Amino acid sequence: MNYNNALSYSSQWLDIIKQEHFPEETQAKWIINESKNNFAEHFNRNWLEYRKSVTEAGDWASVEWSGKGATFIDVMGRKYIDWLGGFGMFDLGWCHPEVVEAVMAQAKRSPMPSQELIDPLRGVLAKLMAEITPGDLKYSFFAASGTESIEAAIKIAKLYTGKSAFIVSAKGFHGKTMGSLSMMGKSDYRERMGLMYGGQVYHIPFGDADALEKQLEICAGVGIGVAAVLLEPIQGEAGAIVPTDDFWPRVRAATKKHNVLLIADEVQTGLGRTGKLWGVNHWDVTPDIICTAKSLGGGVMPVSAVTTTEEIFHPMMYPNPFMHTTTTGGNALACSAAIATINVILRDRLWEAAAQKGAYISEKVDDLAQEFPQVYHKITGKGLLIGQHFNTPEIGYKVAAELFKRNVLVSGTLTSAKTIRIEPPLVITQEEIDEGLNRLTDAVGVVAKAL
Ligand SMILES: Cc1ncc(COP(=O)(O)O)c(C=O)c1O
Repeated sequence: MNYNNALSYSSQWLDIIKQEHFPEETQAKWIINESKNNFAEHFNRNWLEYRKSVTEAGDWASVEWSGKGATFIDVMGRKYIDWLGGFGMFDLGWCHPEVVEAVMAQAKRSPMPSQELIDPLRGVLAKLMAEITPGDLKYSFFAASGTESIEAAIKIAKLYTGKSAFIVSAKGFHGKTMGSLSMMGKSDYRERMGLMYGGQVYHIPFGDADALEKQLEICAGVGIGVAAVLLEPIQGEAGAIVPTDDFWPRVRAATKKHNVLLIADEVQTGLGRTGKLWGVNHWDVTPDIICTAKSLGGGVMPVSAVTTTEEIFHPMMYPNPFMHTTTTGGNALACSAAIATINVILRDRLWEAAAQKGAYISEKVDDLAQEFPQVYHKITGKGLLIGQHFNTPEIGYKVAAELFKRNVLVSGTLTSAKTIRIEPPLVITQEEIDEGLNRLTDAVGVVAKAL
């Protein structure tokens, strides 16, 4: 404990935060060393071992400094093309000027709610969500992260149905808080956690409508009350897995038949990424509940939403309107960011850009996959959610590392690189796409040669 150290260290960093010039070399190197040391000693030491920005960046780890559109610059001035897009958070790219402008204006006036008066922007965002979501979804609850929107959806489904079981998918990803984690289909994050959600959770293979129908029949026969089926329209973390066209319509029909709610986790797919405003739009399906997050804050603020019908939301309002709340969720800064984001997405019809750019990249990467079958297993995805599936995780990691050395950022760690997404901001330019593809071709060529 040392208050004086904390006071002077925070003052030093406040000066850096406020400085307008780009750090010169000595300051940049100090920032890198401080950042690495702080991560190692106070945040999570093992993160550093898993970061390409540390292991593949040469003598000086990449510490991010600023960004614009689909590119960003590290503190040493190295410029990167962002093909990771913050795992779907940067649909609008880095520092979208209209979102930043709205947030800064709101920050100067009133960033957080009083908790008693009516804060206007929360209502505005709720109205906009009702306008842009399918069907008669009408009421929203707001929080900060994707996992919180799933937690809220779980509670809403339980409250409305009075039932407790959920049906979810293998390899599905819904976040890492306890309720969302219980719905996850990946052992990596569950296995060591022991007991989870107390109700039954059944996993079916994603895309297997027969399995879902069977599971619903079994639950009905056994007398297990299923509150909801929770699915991503297109699985993101699993590697941009697109189901066959009959899957979602059959899921909708089966859930209706059994009086079970259907929750679409659009945290990653929502707001245009897959080439439609919502992933479920590809199949004209209206779910009962939609979860949105990531890009809702325009890459500027954390904000998430769960949106549902008046009927389903009713038990959240009566008799106790405070059944599910969070002090900072849906604050004015977050809402101002989301209002600006929705405005930009609708005005610029960014889902159309995602469809066109995604088709272009997919075709080129498909060609590459056919040219290098020793590297690639297959390419999947829709719009700008593209999955590169490699023959082994080691090959995938090598491609990701070679790309990083060529200043293109994609996901992929040493432990998880069998599938690597291409998920750039929807605002990426044609020039940045072509440059990224050139560097990918180069990287794959080098990896193939070394096999
Ligand atoms: C489909 C999906 N749902 C939920 C989440 C959790 O969101 P968050 O990381 O904001 O909690 C993610 C995150 O990757 C996601 O992809």
